[in-house]
Amino acid sequence: MSQQQIHIDFTSAAFRHRLKYGGEKGQALAKAVGLNKGRTPAIVDATAGLGRDGFILAHLGAKITMIERIPIVATAIQKALQVARKAEPIFAEPAKRIKLITGDAIEVLSNISPQVVYIDPMHPARKKSALVKQNMRDLREIVGDDDDKQNLILAALQFASQRVVLKWPKAASLPNDLAKPSYEISGKTTIYYVFICSK
Ligand SMILES: C[S@@+](CC[C@H](N)C(=O)[O-])C[C@H]1O[C@@H](n2cnc3c(N)ncnc32)[C@H](O)[C@@H]1O
Repeated sequence: MSQQQIHIDFTSAAFRHRLKYGGEKGQALAKAVGLNKGRTPAIVDATAGLGRDGFILAHLGAKITMIERIPIVATAIQKALQVARKAEPIFAEPAKRIKLITGDAIEVLSNISPQVVYIDPMHPARKKSALVKQNMRDLREIVGDDDDKQNLILAALQFASQRVVLKWPKAASLPNDLAKPSYEISGKTTIYYVFICSK
């Protein structure tokens, strides 16, 4: 795939399987953002990327605002959402709960009074790139490293009223100079660092 292309499909058989059998509100992602225990906060997915995590959270009932700053990636999400909104309910219903903003979350967050901010920046490149799925490799070609993730986390901590969640690989050390997380939830290959905000 060339540097300027990215394809997103929320209606694939594989993604349907992920939505149906991913563990519902007991999965680590849902617990990390506080979706279990009968609460359904509004969630800002500040690093939308391929849109998968945000779509899964919308499938679990949350209203999602996705933010993506790379225009061709945002356009691919928008197109995929349009297709999903016309598909069968398992895809259409979450897609209708998702709003997409094209822009830099570091700036956007100050204008939208978020409750929960979810951050999944590009992870450090893995040596064994065969382990990384093709569409994530395409995304990395377009996006590169998110070198300003520290500033994004600080902005999220400043503006979120309930919590900030950072998804990060188990094998990598945390970005420098971060406040100590309130707690961590371990997924298969990633850890969700949860920062509870008291505002
Ligand atoms: C690793 S991907 C996210 C993958 C996503 N969680 C998923 O499930 O598909 C990171 C994305 O966040 C975007 N991003 C990073 N920093 C951003 C910022 N400050 N504002 C908006 N988008 C940002 C990048 O352009 C990239 O598309």
